[in-house]
Amino acid sequence: MDAVRRHYEDHPYPRYPLVASLRRQDVTHLKLDALWRRHNGSELPQGSRRILIAGCGSFAPYPFSLANPGCRITALDLSAANIKRARLHCVLHLRFNLNFIVGDLLDPAVASGPFGLIDAYGVLHHLPDPLAGLLALKQRLTKNGLLRIMLYSHTARRGTEAARRAVRRLGITDIAALEALYERLPHGSRLARRLAETPEGNSDHGLADAFLHPQVTTYRVAELAELLAASGLELLAFCHPSALSDPTQEWQRLTTLEANGTLDENYVLLLRNSGNTRQNQHK
Ligand SMILES: C[S@@+](CC[C@H](N)C(=O)[O-])C[C@H]1O[C@@H](n2cnc3c(N)ncnc32)[C@H](O)[C@@H]1O
Repeated sequence: MDAVRRHYEDHPYPRYPLVASLRRQDVTHLKLDALWRRHNGSELPQGSRRILIAGCGSFAPYPFSLANPGCRITALDLSAANIKRARLHCVLHLRFNLNFIVGDLLDPAVASGPFGLIDAYGVLHHLPDPLAGLLALKQRLTKNGLLRIMLYSHTARRGTEAARRAVRRLGITDIAALEALYERLPHGSRLARRLAETPEGNSDHGLADAFLHPQVTTYRVAELAELLAASGLELLAFCHPSALSDPTQEWQRLTTLEANGTLDENYVLLLRNSGNTRQNQHK
């Protein structure tokens, strides 16, 4: 865990300009009362009007605050550098309904909740035991509380992962050394292409997250289904851009794409703490 914390102290993520602003209509998908109404079929109870952004990074607190002015938001991250930047972004944009905590989501004494919504986007796959992280977040949800997670797909991520492992084997731990390596690589070599073509490869924070990260797990579709089944959380919907609205059909689509080697998206899921896990069956 210390290696992950150090990574984000050295490479705050993401690194958007502090002037970067959003309009309310850009963040409607993050509105807790609308999500609650759609998925729970009732008005958001007063006691569930709290949001936890677990592993918030340096930016996410701002859009969540903009989308949810009537909620109390806790922004939690291992990295003090990320929390400092996230707080500054919020203050500069006059967002004040948040508290910021430097801490580990695995520690039950930190940000204990309960929360009506937890967001852990791109976080659990950086834990040594992602299931332990998922269960720790479940413990903090209200009844019928919602949890959004993003996890890496094995297939979508395999080229980047091969390059990340190669970079780590070479002992490269900073951006300058990564750039020097790129200059030395034969033009058109597989590693050179991976470094050049990765999404977010045009920024230092994107390069660091893709190739210098000390701890990454990726999931095959069947492994994702096992993780969900072990969590006891209910799958409400897949939310990555090309996801089908019916989760059963989406499981099938993902399975087919994976078998063809053409799955090119990571998984974004909306889960619920309902105690009813029937819909997790991966048919
Ligand atoms: C890839 S970044 C994602 C940031 C943010 N969720 C987003 O989507 O922009 C992962 C974040 O998770 C944080 N993190 C990793 N493990 C954590 C833990 N055990 N407890 C709290 N935060 C953690 C890291 O410090 C980092 O800021």
